[in-house]
Amino acid sequence: MCGIMGYVGELNAVQIVYKGLEKLEYRGYDSVGIAYKDNFTVTIAKEKGRVMDLAPFVKNKSSDLAIGHTRWATHGEPNQQNAHPHCSNQNQFILVHNGIIENYQKLKVEYLSGYSFKSQTDTEIIVNLIEYFALTMPINEAIRKTMSLLEGSYACLVLDKKNLNCIYFFCDKNPLLLGIGKNGIALSSDITGLVGVADQYIVLEDKTFGIAYLNRYSLYDLIGLKINVKPKPILVTAADIDKKTFHHFMLKEIYEQPMMIRSILHKYFIGDEENISMKLLNKIRKCDKINIVACGTSMYAGMMAKYFFEKLCFMPAEVFCASELIYSTPLISKRPFFIFYSQSGETADVLAVMKKVKKQKFPMLAITNNVESSMGRLTDFCLDIYAGKEIAVASTKAYTAMIVVSAILARAISGIKTNLKSNLKGVSLAMEKVLHNKEICLGIAKELTDASDAFYIGRGIDYWVSLEGALKLKEISYIHTEAFPSGELKHGPIALIHKDTPVIAIITQEGTNRIIRSNLTETISRGAKGFVISSKSLSLPEDTFVIPNVAHYLSPLVSAIVVQLIAYYTALLKHNDIDKPKNLAKCVTVE
Ligand code: M6R
Repeated sequence: MCGIMGYVGELNAVQIVYKGLEKLEYRGYDSVGIAYKDNFTVTIAKEKGRVMDLAPFVKNKSSDLAIGHTRWATHGEPNQQNAHPHCSNQNQFILVHNGIIENYQKLKVEYLSGYSFKSQTDTEIIVNLIEYFALTMPINEAIRKTMSLLEGSYACLVLDKKNLNCIYFFCDKNPLLLGIGKNGIALSSDITGLVGVADQYIVLEDKTFGIAYLNRYSLYDLIGLKINVKPKPILVTAADIDKKTFHHFMLKEIYEQPMMIRSILHKYFIGDEENISMKLLNKIRKCDKINIVACGTSMYAGMMAKYFFEKLCFMPAEVFCASELIYSTPLISKRPFFIFYSQSGETADVLAVMKKVKKQKFPMLAITNNVESSMGRLTDFCLDIYAGKEIAVASTKAYTAMIVVSAILARAISGIKTNLKSNLKGVSLAMEKVLHNKEICLGIAKELTDASDAFYIGRGIDYWVSLEGALKLKEISYIHTEAFPSGELKHGPIALIHKDTPVIAIITQEGTNRIIRSNLTETISRGAKGFVISSKSLSLPEDTFVIPNVAHYLSPLVSAIVVQLIAYYTALLKHNDIDKPKNLAKCVTVE
C-alpha cells in the first residue's frame, strides 16, 4: 500500500526512482508521481494509473536528486490532483507521504487558516506545516516540529527548492529504509526498492528524522540528537525479485514451494533437533492458551497452526481475525500467549492488536516473512518463515511456509520426536508431483471462467484449505467464491446452487471422506458442476485431481498447491492482472 522511493547521488536519480517505483508496484497503488531536480528548480509529473504512465515524462531525463511515490487512495479518490508529490503553498517544499494523518483537519484549522489546498489528501497538510514553521525556524527544526504534531502514521521524503543538495526524510509507524550505495543514498518503503542501488541498509526507527546527501547521511531523533545505527548488508539480490522465465510472480512463487520447504527444514533443524530458542518454547509451554491473530491468508494459515498446537501439543488455541479482535473484548485466559502471523509484518489491523497486547504485557511471538518489519521490531520473539520475497499480491508460498514453521514450532513445544522432518520432505516431493500435473488445474479453470459464483467445500482441515482456495480464486479471478464446511450446505448455502455452479470438494481425511462426497452429491443433484481434489488413498476413479498421499495432518500443504493453480489459471484465462489484482494491496498499512 503506497510506496516511496528517493535517490540522491552520482547515478541518474530520475531513472533510479522510476525503476524503484516499478519494483514497489506489487505493494498496490492507483496513482503515481515523481519530482526531480531540474537545473535550479524541481519538475513534477504525476498521473492516475500505472508507473508506466510516467514513462513519457521521465524519458531521457536525468538528475542527481529525485523522489517518487505510488499512492493507494485513502483520503480523496485516485486522481492526478491527489497523487503525490504535493507542494507547499509557496512551492518551496515538495513532499511524498505514506500513511495516514489522523488529526489533519485539526492541524489545518489550528495552523494553516490562510493556506489553500489543491487536493483532498491529508498529506498536503504536512508539506504546508513544514513551510509554515520554516518561516520562523531552520528547516530541520521545522520538520521536527511538524513531526511532533502529527498523529497517525507517516514515512515522508521532502525536497526544499532552496537547498537542492539533499533529501529530508522522516517516519513514524510506517516503514522507511535508508540504502547506502557506492554512488549515492536511496530511500525506499521496502528492500526491493534498494536492490541494485545500495549495498547496505538501515531500517529507520519510529520518529526518526534524517538528511541524505550525495555521499553521506545523518539521522536524528525527535529532539534533534544524532543517532548512530550500524547499516546491514542487503542480502536480497536482483534475481530474488526477478520473474525469471515465469509470466507472473504468482506462478513463480507457487513453483518455489517445494524447494522452500527444504530450505525451511535446513534453517529450523539441526539434526533431529528444532533450532528454536528454549526461552520462547518455555514461555509458550507455561501459557494456558495460545491466541492466534492475523488477517486473510495468514489467518487461514493460523487455523492450521491451531490444529497443530491442539493435536500435537495438547494446548488450547483460538484464531482471531485481527480487525475484529481490535474492536472486541474477548475473555482472555489467565496465562495467555499471543502469536501473530503476517507475511509483510506491516498489516495495520494486526499491528493494532499487537500494540494492545504489548501494553497489557502479555508474551507474544510474530511469525513473519519480514523479521525487520514493524511487527518484528515490536514483538518479544520472532520466527522467520524463510519464504523469500513474495511479490504477487495473492499470497501463496507465505501461506505454506507459515504452516510448515507452525508444525515445526508445535513439535518443538511438545518435545515429542515425531518424524515431521521426513514427512515434510515427503510433502515437498508431493508438491512437485502436483506441479507436474498442473494441466489438470488448467482444465478445472476452463470450467470456472464463465461462472458468476463458485464454492469450495470440505470438513476440518480440508475446510480450512477451502477457505484459502476461495480467497485465492476471488482475489484474482474476481469470481464470487465462498468456502463452506460441507455439512453446512443444507443449512442455507445450498440455496445458491443452480445449473452449472462449480463446487470444488477437498477430501484428504479418511474420517470425512464419505460424508463430504455425499454433501457434494447433494449439490450435483441440484445442478452443480462438481470437482473433487482427493488424496490418493481415498480417491475414486472419477475424481478430478488426485494428490499424492502425505502424513494426513500435512495434506493441506499439498492441496494448497492445487487451489493456488486453479486460481492462477482461471485468472489467466480471464486475462486479469494476476500479480496486481484490482483494489488489493500487498502490504495493507491502513486499518
Ligand atoms: O501481510 P499479511 O500476511 O499480514 O497480510 C494479510 C492479508 O492482507 C493477506 O494475506 C491477503 O489476504 C492476501 N492478499 C492474500 O492473498
